[in-house]
Amino acid sequence: MKYQEIAALKRPVSRIVLGTSSPLFTGGGNADGLLQEAQALGINCLDTAREYRESERVIGRYLAGSGRREDWVILSKCCHPVMAYIPRVSERCAREDLARSLEYLGTEHIDLYLLHRDDPLVEVGRVVDFMNRLMDEGHIRAYGGSNWSAARVKAANEYAQNHGLRGFEAVSPHYSLGRQRHDPWGNGCRTLTGAKHREEREYFEQTQLPVFCWSSLCAGVFSGKLKSTENGQIFKKFGLNPWWGYDCRDNYARLARCEELAAEKNVSVAQLTLAWILGDPLRTFPVAAPTSVQRLRDVAAAADLELSPAERSYLNLETEARA
Ligand SMILES: NC(=O)c1ccc[n+]([C@@H]2O[C@H](COP(=O)([O-])OP(=O)(O)OC[C@H]3O[C@@H](n4cnc5c(N)ncnc54)[C@H](OP(=O)(O)O)[C@@H]3O)[C@@H](O)[C@H]2O)c1
Repeated sequence: MKYQEIAALKRPVSRIVLGTSSPLFTGGGNADGLLQEAQALGINCLDTAREYRESERVIGRYLAGSGRREDWVILSKCCHPVMAYIPRVSERCAREDLARSLEYLGTEHIDLYLLHRDDPLVEVGRVVDFMNRLMDEGHIRAYGGSNWSAARVKAANEYAQNHGLRGFEAVSPHYSLGRQRHDPWGNGCRTLTGAKHREEREYFEQTQLPVFCWSSLCAGVFSGKLKSTENGQIFKKFGLNPWWGYDCRDNYARLARCEELAAEKNVSVAQLTLAWILGDPLRTFPVAAPTSVQRLRDVAAAADLELSPAERSYLNLETEARA
């Protein structure tokens, strides 16, 4: 595994993060085997959220059993909208969610606490103020935003700087080789993929804020489960949400190149996708959610796979040659 120090957390964080919104976690099952294996593979960061039903409880049970809370960097999230549409970005909601998350995780603090969505009608200064209060009380070590625009993060961090406070120390948008052509849930998700988001990428590249890339395998579309020849088969193969956000011709072309290069390098499509993200000029931490030990091993091995700039461009359809 490879690690990068996140200054605000004062510790190295594994470049590959285990996502926990799969039914294994949300349904309250036993994920001990998967978590044990993650630890054995050197993955020390978990991505969870108050919104992921039983996920925090499943993690909490494992931590209580293994007794090694301090081995993990726990990223959780608060203030998800109600019924997907009613915004909840407020101190009251953050505190409500935090109390429940701490109880379920069985911990006294969360390492990285992200606002799960933004509400642009709330002034950033208010958000910075209340997140700093939560940090001062010792319940969270650092905070940031998931699905926040670069402009809002920039405004928040300017406010923090002008007021002697701590600003956003990480973000978590969708980011992967596969382009997300629209918000899969239609409730305020943001992607950094595609030409439309170039300026946002530039901001995050310039600031080197850690970017926790959710759905790094595009919810399975870039995992090898879907073949590039199954163009237009996403609905048939996976059903509706959240896969339909990735159903476009250019993604099938990327997938075809992934399959070709994966075969040549004797690696999996999932590994190639993750290696593409890891090689990005953004400071990326791909969040992937395999649910079997075998697929977790496959994912973890991607940390050692390096792609040349030409291969990265080729996979992203920027060039015709890959050498
Ligand atoms: N902040 C946010 O708003 C937000 C939004 C969405 C997701 N997330 C986070 O991001 C995490 C990952 O997103 P996601 O759930 O969409 O998952 P993902 O990792 O993009 O895709 C998961 C799919 O890929 C398959 N897969 C994983 N590794 C594989 C491998 N090595 N070979 C073949 N197939 C493989 C999984 O199969 P199996 O299940 O069969 O193993 C599953 O079908 C979530 O769990 C959550 O923590 C955050």
